[in-house]
Amino acid sequence: MKRRLRELLSEVLPPEDLACVYNSYDIIGDIAVVRLTPASEKYNRAIAEAVMSVHKNVKTVLAQKGPVHGDFRLRKLEWVAGEDKTIVVHKECGCAFSVDVAECYFSPRLMCERMRIAGQVESGEVLVNMFAGVGCFSIIVAKHSGVLKAYSIDVSPVAFQFMRENIRKNGAYGKVIPLLGDAKQVIEGRLTHVADRVLMPLPGKAFEYLPFALLALKKSGGWIHYYDFEYVSKNESPVGRVMSKVVKRLQLLDVDLAVQLGRIVRTTGPNWCQVVLDIRVNSSSR
Ligand SMILES: C[S@@+](CC[C@H](N)C(=O)[O-])C[C@H]1O[C@@H](n2cnc3c(N)ncnc32)[C@H](O)[C@@H]1O
Repeated sequence: MKRRLRELLSEVLPPEDLACVYNSYDIIGDIAVVRLTPASEKYNRAIAEAVMSVHKNVKTVLAQKGPVHGDFRLRKLEWVAGEDKTIVVHKECGCAFSVDVAECYFSPRLMCERMRIAGQVESGEVLVNMFAGVGCFSIIVAKHSGVLKAYSIDVSPVAFQFMRENIRKNGAYGKVIPLLGDAKQVIEGRLTHVADRVLMPLPGKAFEYLPFALLALKKSGGWIHYYDFEYVSKNESPVGRVMSKVVKRLQLLDVDLAVQLGRIVRTTGPNWCQVVLDIRVNSSSR
């Protein structure tokens, strides 16, 4: 059971320093990833010990050094305590995922979202996952739905290798098809008009790639799950802002659509959140 870090450290750190400690952390397999600030850095060992005292299975504590960046969506990590390693097996929703947390994007915070998508996939559907990472969404969909094929694209050679390993590990061979390359090029080259459902789990780039999601969808239409980051303000809903931007863009592309659901998936920083839209495309002229 995860406990708030400040609560765990309340008897170790002076009260005035407690406020600079990030409360949340991630557990990925037996690796804990904590977030240090310049002010809390000097307490890195105490923070690691606090986490390890609650999570007896944790063998390694790493610290995030800066935000997620670059095309591969990586984050610089620094060893703090325990075994010096970054490769781990994470179990989620009846699946096991090998991942190098220093070389591939992975967030355990998307577990509910992955299951939510799996719950919508109908038997016999073809899925295109444009930004598949180490394969979590696709493999969970393969495990928990009657999906026929889940084409899973990633541009990172390291993520691609882990995705292949995870497909084998989870017996999803033949159902989840790993494809290495830029989603635009892979779709244009071999996935035009094949999909009942397209996943776009790359907030920040999904908007630019919308025309290629449409190209992947069957001519009769289907679903697009669109992810984005949005600023949270008092006056306007972040979901509403993403919705109006995306609907405008799709209408300009001559798409007949309905947004069936929009929701906040998680908060990603002070005043920022990740939003998902489930978009029903009835037809498109692309
Ligand atoms: C946020 S991660 C996706 C995580 C994954 N869906 C999961 O649940 O673990 C985004 C992924 O998109 C990949 N990526 C970035 N640009 C890409 C592109 N142009 N085409 C295909 N994949 C891309 C990155 O390498 C990264 O693995």
